[in-house]
Amino acid sequence: MRVLVTGGAGFIGSHFAERLLKAGEDVVVLDLLTYAGDEANVPQRVEFRRGDVASKADVEAVGEFDAIVNFAAESHVDRSILGPHDFARTDVLGALALAEVARERDVRLVQVSTDEVYGDVTEPAAEKAPLRPSSPYSAAKAGGDLQVLAAVRTYGLDACVTRGSNTYGPRQYPEKLIPLFVTNALDGEPLPLYGDGRQVRDWLHVEDHCAAIELVLREGAPGEVYNAGAGEEHENVELAHRILGLTGADPSLLRHVEDRPGHDRRYSLDSSKLRALGWKPEKAFDKGLEETVDWYRENRAWWKPRKSGEYRAYYERQYAERLR
Ligand code: NAD
Ligand code: DAU
Repeated sequence: MRVLVTGGAGFIGSHFAERLLKAGEDVVVLDLLTYAGDEANVPQRVEFRRGDVASKADVEAVGEFDAIVNFAAESHVDRSILGPHDFARTDVLGALALAEVARERDVRLVQVSTDEVYGDVTEPAAEKAPLRPSSPYSAAKAGGDLQVLAAVRTYGLDACVTRGSNTYGPRQYPEKLIPLFVTNALDGEPLPLYGDGRQVRDWLHVEDHCAAIELVLREGAPGEVYNAGAGEEHENVELAHRILGLTGADPSLLRHVEDRPGHDRRYSLDSSKLRALGWKPEKAFDKGLEETVDWYRENRAWWKPRKSGEYRAYYERQYAERLR
């Protein structure tokens, strides 16, 4: 199978490309190389094309493929609050363009989505739960999902949607909670914890997330949505203390700062549908977090340059006032 992996120069997509290669598949990556993407993340032996998923012409120019797995997105909630337009463009119009090409070529599309589309919940959300996105990011992801599912119903597109929970592991851009706190702790910089820090996220290791998506690509039923959560729900404040412990940083680096507007309190998924298909997470959070902290400790050369340039301007805008 030749699989088009869009967004494969980013965090999860690059791990997924690696996984498909190991499984003996042929992979082509299409990625715009935004601030979050880097060709160096794309595994060797994978063909790379620079292009925009929201441009049908860019997708068509890739050539032949047998399936598409769409990771391409603007993916950071805080950036979506600062400026939502790129999110709507890539996450909605990108999914739409890919659905059109997949339909015209009669190939399968897997739309990689997120638990955030259900909004914050008090009980685990199953796939039929209402979509109640809270942020411009999650609203855009919900829009992408709906375009894909509408194309299934209207045109008979062969597509599935996956909704994974908060993902962590090596090569995650240092704007997200775990890599931000780990790299700040390693550098002796403050860890800015939003609000009371009692928000809950369900932490899924990137390899387990990729295994879920691969299973859906191979065995998912057309038109179905599959949740993938590890069942590892932890409060942010607990996670921050674990990171301080694992890095040996001074606990006084932890700072409670002004909250994220519209901040979702808890994400929680009912993943029994995907488990019935044979998926289960393999990596315990304790071990996965320890290994991830080790990876960032040993790979300063990967993350140091990513925390300069455009990142500094973003960091100032997002945190300077909060940390004053
Ligand atoms: P990421 O930000 O690390 O990577 C996104 C990639 O998409 C980057 O390489 C970027 O250059 C590329 N991209 C952005 N706009 C593009 C465009 N218009 N055309 C082509 N490429 C473009 O994101 P990630 O954390 O790896 O997330 C990947 C996918 O998984 C996203 O769709 C996200 O919504 C979803 N997801 C992420 C998580 C998580 O916790 N990180 C959890 C569940 C679902
Ligand atoms: O749930 C899946 C989603 O997880 C993905 O769809 C998104 O792409 C991904 O960014 C992530 O969204 P979150 O908003 O949950 O992740 P983030 O790492 O930004 O934040 C995790 C929690 O930590 C959240 O409650 C906000 C809090 N936080 C985050 C940052 C960056 C802080 O307290 N301080 C921070 O500086």
